[in-house]
Amino acid sequence: MKKQVFLTKNEAQTKRLAGQVLKELFADKANKKAKILALEGELGAGKTTFTQGLAKALGVKEKITSPTFVIMKRFIVNAAKLFPERAARSGASRRVSIENLYHIDCYRIQSPKELSALGFNEIAANPKNIIIIEWAEKIKKLISKDATWVRFEWVGDKERRISLKNF
Ligand SMILES: Nc1ncnc2c1ncn2[C@@H]1O[C@H](COP(=O)(O)OP(=O)(O)OP(=O)(O)O)[C@@H](O)[C@H]1O
Ligand SMILES: [Mg+2]
Repeated sequence: MKKQVFLTKNEAQTKRLAGQVLKELFADKANKKAKILALEGELGAGKTTFTQGLAKALGVKEKITSPTFVIMKRFIVNAAKLFPERAARSGASRRVSIENLYHIDCYRIQSPKELSALGFNEIAANPKNIIIIEWAEKIKKLISKDATWVRFEWVGDKERRISLKNF
C-alpha cells in the first residue's frame, strides 16, 4: 500500500494535483480493467473540483458539474491530450487506450444496487474507461481492491488536505 498526503492552498492546486495523479495512474503497465478513483470527504471538500482537474487533463471539453439528479455521466476522452508524446510517435492516438471518463456521484444513492443497475460492473471491467466516484464510500463493496482512494479534508477556507491511498 502506498499513501501520499498533499495540502492544497487553492482550487487551482487541487485541479493540478488531479493531473499529476492521472499521470501516476498510467505510469504502470497496461490496464486489464478500468482505473478507478474513489473520492470521499464532506460537502464542499473539493471532490468535484478535483474531478474538473482530471477531466481537463484528459482533454474533456464539456464542463463538469454536479447535477442534482444525474448519478452517472460519460465524457469522451481526448487521448492525444492524455499522452501527447505517444500520440506524436505513433502518428495517431491509436495506442492510447483510454476512451471514456465516467463521473459518478453517489450522494443520492441509497444502495449499491442502484449503481449495478446502471451497469457499473461492466463499465469497471472495461480497460478503456477511467471512473471517478464522489461519495465512493457509499458503494464500497462494488469498488475493486486496486482502486485509488482519495480523501478530502477541509483545513481552512482555501486549504484542503488530500490523501491518496493506492492498494
Ligand atoms: N484548495 C481547494 N481545493 C478545492 N476546492 C477549494 C479549495 N479552496 C477553496 N475551494 C472551494 O471549495 C469548494 C469545493 O467544492 P466542490 O464542489 O469541489 O466540493 P465537493 O466535495 O464536490 O462537494 P459535494 O459533496 O457537495 O459534491 C469550491 O467552491 C472551491 O472553490
Ligand atoms: Mg461534488
